[in-house]
Amino acid sequence: MQKTPLYITAAQGNLTSRPPVWMMRQAGRYLPEYRELRKQYNFKQMMSTPDLATEVTLQPIRRFQMDAAILFSDILVIPESLGCKFDFIESKGPVFETPIRTVKDIENLNSDHSAQNIDYVYQAIRQLKPQLNALNTPLVGFAGAPFTVASYMIEGGSSASLKQTKLLMVQNPALLHQLLQKITVTTINYLNAQIENGVEALQLFDTWAGLLAWDDFKNLCFPYIKTIIQSLNNPNRIPITVFCKNTSAYMELLAQTGCDVISVDWTVNLPQLLKSNRSFAVQGNLDPHWLYAPHNILKDKIQLLLAETKPYQGYIFNLGHGLMPDISPDAVKCVVDTIKSS
Ligand code: CP3
Repeated sequence: MQKTPLYITAAQGNLTSRPPVWMMRQAGRYLPEYRELRKQYNFKQMMSTPDLATEVTLQPIRRFQMDAAILFSDILVIPESLGCKFDFIESKGPVFETPIRTVKDIENLNSDHSAQNIDYVYQAIRQLKPQLNALNTPLVGFAGAPFTVASYMIEGGSSASLKQTKLLMVQNPALLHQLLQKITVTTINYLNAQIENGVEALQLFDTWAGLLAWDDFKNLCFPYIKTIIQSLNNPNRIPITVFCKNTSAYMELLAQTGCDVISVDWTVNLPQLLKSNRSFAVQGNLDPHWLYAPHNILKDKIQLLLAETKPYQGYIFNLGHGLMPDISPDAVKCVVDTIKSS
């Protein structure tokens, strides 16, 4: 029998000899082998073709041997499965054909069988399993949390201020809740299918929740995340992580969602949090800009972090947000190797 992977041991809140390490956005554009494939296919083709999604998921594992693999996909597969078409425009990001703003727009979204449309993701998971099992590396599945997914649908793409989403929040909250409810139903079915097909952990990304006032977070994010976690059919109790930006503000609420791990951004005092009496494991939280530092400085920074976070109890090394596309793979290697040799 294989040993329990470090990532799982830490996610369950237990002591590890060193922190397991993986990085958000580890599968993507900073890797030359990803950019090479990307010359032949656009991003949507890459994520909706199981062979390509399998290959890209494995690329960082082959190169750096991280302690967990994250499925190569995107949080925007949920809006698409609900019938909201979008495209990724180079240098602009996702652009939706028709933003969701009215009762009719929301009534037109069909959440009943939508998770069945995402079969290519389940197939990629099935293909990845034997390859990752051979390396004893767990596969992390994921979805966007309802508020962040809704914000893309309402804004029609990326937005720095979430103006349209906040307008809906103050002018027609019932409509916003109706949209969040539909996304929640599809997300539960989607994550249940990921579990059935073999993911060993799940992460919910609520990136843009960080722009909300505390009580709006309590009202628009907290109940839906909690409902998702509590509704999952999770017989083996695979660990569930919740990530959001501006984590310090909402920590208490996040802990009450029933998640196993909170993925914290760089605003959190990590050593202090790790020493505190807590009911959850912690993932985070290096500001990815440190990966632009000269490697001797980066190495010192990681060694200091390792000294400050000892003993490693329920702690998974990660970044406070995803890797940027212009970060050097050598910097990623420096981080992984420093942690693995500690
Ligand atoms: O390596 C991994 O983390 C796995 C794959 C993954 C992607 N997106 C691949 C991707 C994951 C987990 C995501 C999550 C995601 N997608 C989030 C939440 C996490 C976060 O970073 O805040 C969000 C908000 C999105 C939405 C999204 N996807 C945007 C706004 C964009 C365009 C901007 C950008 O970063 O390029 C994407 C595209 C995207 N998702 C790419 C990748 C590798 C770039 C695709 C390309 O051009 O090749």
